[in-house]
Amino acid sequence: MTTIGAPLRRKEGLAKVTGRAVYLDDITRPGLLWGRTVRADVPGGRLERIDFAPGPPWDEIVVVTARDIPGRNVVPLIADDQPCLVARDIQHREEPVVLLAHADRQVLARAVAAIRLVVTPAPAVLSLAAATDVLSELTLERGDLAAGLAGADLVVDGTYETGAQEHLYIEPQAMLAEVGEDGALTVWGSLQCPYYVRPAVATVLGLPEDRVRVIQTTTGGGFGGKEEYPSMIACHAALLAVKARRPVKIVYERGEDMRATTKRHPSRTRHRVGVSRDGRLLALETEFVLDGGAYLTLSPVVLSRGVIHAPGPYRWPNLRIRGRVMRTSYPPHGAFRGFGAPQAIFALEVHLDRVARALGIDPVELRRRNLLRPGDVMATGQPVEPGVDPLAVLDRALDASGFAARRAACDASNTGVSAVKRGVGLATFFHGAGFTGAGESKLASEAALRLGADGRVEILASSAEIGQGAATTHAQIVSEALSVPYEMVSPAVVDTAVVPNSGPTVASRTVMVVGGLLAQAAREMVDRLRAQAGLPRPHTPADFAVAARAYTDAHGPLLTRARYSAPAGWQWDERTLTGEAYAAYAWACYVAEVAVDTRTGETEVTDFVAVQDVGRVVNPVTARGQVHGGVCQGLGFALYEDVVWQEGGMANARMTNYIVPTSADTPPIAVVFCQGEASPSKGLGELPMDGTAPAVVNALNAALGAEIARIPALPERVLQATLPA
Ligand code: MOS
Repeated sequence: MTTIGAPLRRKEGLAKVTGRAVYLDDITRPGLLWGRTVRADVPGGRLERIDFAPGPPWDEIVVVTARDIPGRNVVPLIADDQPCLVARDIQHREEPVVLLAHADRQVLARAVAAIRLVVTPAPAVLSLAAATDVLSELTLERGDLAAGLAGADLVVDGTYETGAQEHLYIEPQAMLAEVGEDGALTVWGSLQCPYYVRPAVATVLGLPEDRVRVIQTTTGGGFGGKEEYPSMIACHAALLAVKARRPVKIVYERGEDMRATTKRHPSRTRHRVGVSRDGRLLALETEFVLDGGAYLTLSPVVLSRGVIHAPGPYRWPNLRIRGRVMRTSYPPHGAFRGFGAPQAIFALEVHLDRVARALGIDPVELRRRNLLRPGDVMATGQPVEPGVDPLAVLDRALDASGFAARRAACDASNTGVSAVKRGVGLATFFHGAGFTGAGESKLASEAALRLGADGRVEILASSAEIGQGAATTHAQIVSEALSVPYEMVSPAVVDTAVVPNSGPTVASRTVMVVGGLLAQAAREMVDRLRAQAGLPRPHTPADFAVAARAYTDAHGPLLTRARYSAPAGWQWDERTLTGEAYAAYAWACYVAEVAVDTRTGETEVTDFVAVQDVGRVVNPVTARGQVHGGVCQGLGFALYEDVVWQEGGMANARMTNYIVPTSADTPPIAVVFCQGEASPSKGLGELPMDGTAPAVVNALNAALGAEIARIPALPERVLQATLPA
């Protein structure tokens, strides 16, 4: 039975396309109230008083402030620095101050408008340049930087900037909380990490964790945006529900979601590269700075991933990467597909093209000379995994894109009189799958399978289907490991009362780490059925059904489980970032071709080729979907998606003025997976986000002979970059 590698239908696909899938907003409960959030609306200050202007029927409206919090006023994450509601100090414009609930949404809207916050303003930090408070810092060093730079024939400097990016999942954030007869709390929601929400709600309500149950509803996209922020909304809904003694639902409208929830960390990277005349990279000195916003959230982890990915897939005999996250007065930036790596890889890949221009060598050749090879050691000291050949990935991309011929055609076209200039660019990169370093060991994820009398197998894992295909790929992995038809395997609803903690649905870990645990649990199930129910070896699906019946008749449902433990001998030093950083890396080379109108500054991406080694592909359709989606999100990051900040808030929080690529802006995207069946599956979810923007900007710079170093490369920035100095 080989289901892995087959383009099987999505488990939840039919329900979604026929409108039967139940999203949070579709759910109602008897006596339901709607909840709304009143926010600080100033980027910094001290809350003196909350006034309730006359008009709304205040006696009917449930009001919650920081004083109503029965537990701790904190949304727990890495540090417990972010309050659930402002008690006194306001650190950013979107901080929640008052929660309101009412059955009628119109009444609720009037009540929100009638609240006056009396605030003594305080200074706000509204630029990275003005930020002085370091939230987190890390350094990765190898070799002797000073000697490497001193021995270089040429030293090339460059500074690169990336902007905030909004996730823009189709379904906005939404949560519903209800207190049961016994005082226990149930939260339903659109989320990636049920086991982040549960302790958060328990902390705020002062309840033991086992009195809180979290159930994922159909989730319309996450991209990291539903990693940590849902905990905040769940706490708010829970506080209102407890005070009201009625179920409360909070659904953010689009503008509120865009303004208040996390975004990708804006970044500024300064590179100094020492290189020999013949194009050997000798030294890399990097300052990698992220804008963390007002609270720590996940920034230290985003930073560490950014720093580890900053050297890219190259041999650097000498390097020093200094990473810092600075506190500003913006809403906290948080998890977003790629988690620091897209910022770091953008900067390095665009800088390498600059180095190539400075040397007068072909950017492809520069990469070829310096890419890691089998047997090499990465900056962290981790060896390149056996069976991987980054050069082969590069060659495959050059071949699949017809790179040389394409570049010659662009150059020829650019000698003409047309105002439209063409260019082709590439990026070579990697992405580490799973939590960094000892992260997976600390998580100690658990996943389980349950076999019923009818021979059906239920997957018990906290991995959330968020559109990426988790339900489908997990069922394929289990079906293959058990040798039973795909139709016989289904994931259970992600409900903390039912599924164990298999960790969060993040970090490109769902197929590789949780899928690995499920395969292990499946092997144990087969062993148990062989030992205790006469399952023959090998077995047919019919044999399996007979054994399932025999086992369950005698013992009841068969439950098998697996828990993660790191391979023996793994080492990780989280202070120096040395050792086994990731269980596996995916390797890729992306090629973009652009046409840019030098009169308007408008860029059109005319073709795109995405080549990657992600190990064995579990489902070619969902895998291609991940690449298509990631490339589109990368095009937005590169060219369109510009968060306009005014006084610490997002001024363009609408889909009419925060521009994302549509199908009209999307080129044909050729997707090539270049690893055979034998290789284990590696993470894929975040990878496509990393290499797209640098490939596009390298193509733009080639087309224009320019040095664009800041994204999004909006038309006005493109025009600016082409002006004579
Ligand atoms: Mo993700 S950015 O690891 O939710």
